[in-house]
Amino acid sequence: MIMRPFLKTKLLFGLVLLLTACTSPRPKYVIGVSQCSEDIWRDKLNNELKIGTYFHDDVELQFVSADDSDEKQIEQINQFISDGINLLIVAPNQVATVSPAIDKAFDQGIPVIVFDRKTNSQKYTAYIGADNFDMGRLMGEYIATKLNGKGRVLEIMGLKGSSPAIERHNGFESALKAYPNITLVASLQGDWTEESAVKAIKDYQGDLTNIDFVFGQNDRMAIGAKKSLSSLTSHPSPLTSTKYCGIDGLPGKGNGIESVRDSILEASYIYPTHGDEVLQLAMNILEGKHYQKENPLMASLVTRDNANVLLLQNEEMVRQGNNLDQLHQRSDAYLKQLGNQRIVLVLAIAFIFLLLALMVIIYRYHLQKARIAEERTKMEREQLDFYTQVSHELRTPLTLIEGPLSQLAETKDIQQAGAEASGLFAIIQRNTHQLTQLINKMLNVQATGSIDDLNVGHQESAPIESPTKTAETEQTHADDLSTVLIVDDNADIRAYLRTILQDRYQVNEAADGQQGLAIANEIVPDLIVSDVMMPVMNGLEFCQRVKSGTATSHIPVILLTARALSQHQVEGYESGADAYITKPFSADVLLARIGNLLKSRLVLKNLFSSTPQDDTTAPAYSSLFTLHSSLKEDSFLIKFRDFVEKNMADSDLSVETIGAELGLSRVQLYRKVKALTGQSPVELLRTARLQKGRELLQTTDKNVSEIAYEVGFTAPSYFTKCFKDEFGISPSDL
Ligand code: FRU
Repeated sequence: MIMRPFLKTKLLFGLVLLLTACTSPRPKYVIGVSQCSEDIWRDKLNNELKIGTYFHDDVELQFVSADDSDEKQIEQINQFISDGINLLIVAPNQVATVSPAIDKAFDQGIPVIVFDRKTNSQKYTAYIGADNFDMGRLMGEYIATKLNGKGRVLEIMGLKGSSPAIERHNGFESALKAYPNITLVASLQGDWTEESAVKAIKDYQGDLTNIDFVFGQNDRMAIGAKKSLSSLTSHPSPLTSTKYCGIDGLPGKGNGIESVRDSILEASYIYPTHGDEVLQLAMNILEGKHYQKENPLMASLVTRDNANVLLLQNEEMVRQGNNLDQLHQRSDAYLKQLGNQRIVLVLAIAFIFLLLALMVIIYRYHLQKARIAEERTKMEREQLDFYTQVSHELRTPLTLIEGPLSQLAETKDIQQAGAEASGLFAIIQRNTHQLTQLINKMLNVQATGSIDDLNVGHQESAPIESPTKTAETEQTHADDLSTVLIVDDNADIRAYLRTILQDRYQVNEAADGQQGLAIANEIVPDLIVSDVMMPVMNGLEFCQRVKSGTATSHIPVILLTARALSQHQVEGYESGADAYITKPFSADVLLARIGNLLKSRLVLKNLFSSTPQDDTTAPAYSSLFTLHSSLKEDSFLIKFRDFVEKNMADSDLSVETIGAELGLSRVQLYRKVKALTGQSPVELLRTARLQKGRELLQTTDKNVSEIAYEVGFTAPSYFTKCFKDEFGISPSDL
């Protein structure tokens, strides 16, 4: 079988769908994280953001760092926009330069979370971070308190143009304003890195002597400043007296908290990262949940008093964080495994499906094969029928040309043959014409492939004379000629057969099986010659019915047909035919066959009628019906004998009474008994009476008169006369 393309497409589509369901598609939410730079503070934040995603399905974070470059950050934000991210988390490097890119993202409908650093517009969805002004102010307060309101202070600022640098400076300045004895020696420009602080101090031309406190806007710059100041040879005051503080308060080796604990820094301020909170805010926005536009994060001071505790706390947090990470990795592994199992499952289902499809294909293929085989057989049968029909159509006219021709050839004086010869010539002419017509039609069949018109039509059946009259006359001239019934739908065949047979036999005709059966029952012919392919009732059925009818079962049937195949012959014999002759046939063969069949009946006649005149001791009467016990007609004859025997004493026993007993008309009984025994029923009855009488004379002491009455004679004198005629001796001689 060939699978329909529609089915194939559906199958493939389903398979692709199933397989794609197993591979991980684009998550529902893609969040772009644009960091201005890469350092420990941002690493910590990124890590917390990542952990935050563990609590949400379908989120992917894409991290980029601008490495302190405005251009790079602008480029990266634009890339995020064109990638179609669902939300932007951004810490702009410098306010003025990066803000337009952020505005653009916001304008294009991408929700924007600004964190840590600010933009210069309101085009953002939410802000989250600590208050940098406040932090600067608090550090100012702390230093002023530590200096008891008197001393020289140096500030190292973060990247110029970044919002925390500006705000922390403003806050710091505002706090110092309240302390007139505190001098802010300088606010040197750094860029948040340690090196920038070292360089700023080195490059500073002013007086950096007797600095009591250095405020680094972050811890890294505070540490850089300490390194730089202490290396200055020109520095007159003992270095140990200068104190340093910063912002960030990061845990970890060499970072803010440890530096405070180790007295490298005097204090720091925890600048909170809170990545998990940032992510939660992002999810609230994406999922349409409630959120605040401004989200301040709380900060806290780190001094030598709490540094240790904070470090311990942090260690614990790191530990928990690691546990969480491990758990997440495990669940990730399980999910992956689950995914793999799903793929296996889908493949298994697909395999089963394909297997089923294959089975269906194979099944359909076999069905089709069987159908083709069936069609071929049908075609072969049709072909056979066709050839049978063609051969029938050809053989019939051929018979009617060949037969009459050879008959005419044997006629010495055609002139003298007169009417019969011209009849034969007419048959030849008609059938030559029919043959030509038939060949033309066959050529036509070859061209068009249609066999419907092949039938050229036979000669119209000539009205058939009722045989009743003939049958009656026949009874009177029964001994003269045997009767042959011709059954054929072709009038020419009938006519030709008649010319062949009419000299030797009494001929009757029928145009089909049904008509044939009626005539056969009416006249009980001595032999039947029948065609096979006929309308109304074909020859096979006709033959069968002849052979099963009481009146006709003894009649020999010759099937004369165009159906020449042995298979057809078998069918013919199975229907009970005695002979099978194929067309075209030889008239001599047919005559010989008819003669033989009739002669074999005559043998019977002689046997039944033979009287063992010389053997006076033989029980002639009982042998009459037992001689041919192998014959089919046995049962009929036995019935006949039994009835006659039982009613022998009845001198009124008539042929009509016997016929009625056996279910036959007078004519039928006569014809059948005559055919089987060679004697008429009346003769047979008389023979039976006389033979019984002879038997009684030989075996009993009864006198002739007694015996004559016992075997149904009304007068002993008549018995004596008949006895003498039959056996050649007088009953009294016995
Ligand atoms: C990290 C950092 C911090 C500082 C913050 C200001 O990149 O330099 O040290 O507090 O950024 O935005």
